[in-house]
Amino acid sequence: MTLIDGKAISEQIKQEIAAEVADIVAHGGKRPHLAAILVGHDGGSETYVASKVKACEVCGFKSTLIRYEDNVTEEELLAKVCELNDDEDIDGFIVQLPLPKHISEQKVIETIDYRKDVDGFHPINVGRMSIGLPCYISATPNGIMELFRRYHIETQGKKCVVLGRSNIVGKPMAMLMMQKNYPGDATVTVCHSHSADLVKECQEADIIIAAMGQPNFVKANMVKEGAVIIDVGTTRVPDATKKSGFKLTGDVKFDEVAPKCSFITPVPGGVGPMTIVSLMRNTLLAGKKAIYK
Ligand code: GUN
Repeated sequence: MTLIDGKAISEQIKQEIAAEVADIVAHGGKRPHLAAILVGHDGGSETYVASKVKACEVCGFKSTLIRYEDNVTEEELLAKVCELNDDEDIDGFIVQLPLPKHISEQKVIETIDYRKDVDGFHPINVGRMSIGLPCYISATPNGIMELFRRYHIETQGKKCVVLGRSNIVGKPMAMLMMQKNYPGDATVTVCHSHSADLVKECQEADIIIAAMGQPNFVKANMVKEGAVIIDVGTTRVPDATKKSGFKLTGDVKFDEVAPKCSFITPVPGGVGPMTIVSLMRNTLLAGKKAIYK
């Protein structure tokens, strides 16, 4: 069994990005600039955004964090999005999700200029990804694709089960795994809360990508010998022994599943750091105007 070290790979990629940024700046180019909008004080969102800002520093990017309280109006938020769309110094920006209930996430996403949508959530980027055109690909699926590449994991002709059908992870992940390219060329099944026999689908899978947000859902009896397991889950489960009061818990029961696998990602330290680094890559692409002029 090989433990996939997303943390180490992400550190390596950040160094690669930092070297490229240093080169760009040394030749008189512009330092990439990422902005992030954070609404409210959700613990998970605070942690993610802080990690994104920190990663910008490591990569040599400029970053701007814009904060609003939970009671910000949709109108106010949309006005800020429009302002960032027009700000020539900002190469790309994100609005951290989830947003408070009174704000339409879809409206916010569709207001972002797709050329600055480094999260890859805008329908233009989603559509382009689905037909294999250059675009910003959403960070978590893109980070997982990079793990397949860096660990030379075979995907062609493999049975891949994606658990979960979210717009951010499940759907784009399924699209990427079926794309006519490496990593991809897999036979993809997407399972969700209405799937008739999810356990059987998992038992037949060469690759399982668990992204439904249910801690410890994937058990040893659901996994075949030699399978590749990618765990996207990051649920905060109460744990009195931790200083923070919680334990970040994946969708896979790691201890019992790991011995059966050829490759597995841990939580934390697997997919999470790759998500951040994928956003950094998209920001570098935005800074270079590599996808959209
Ligand atoms: N919430 C959970 N994951 C993400 C992400 O990748 N981007 C944004 N903007 N919000 C998120």
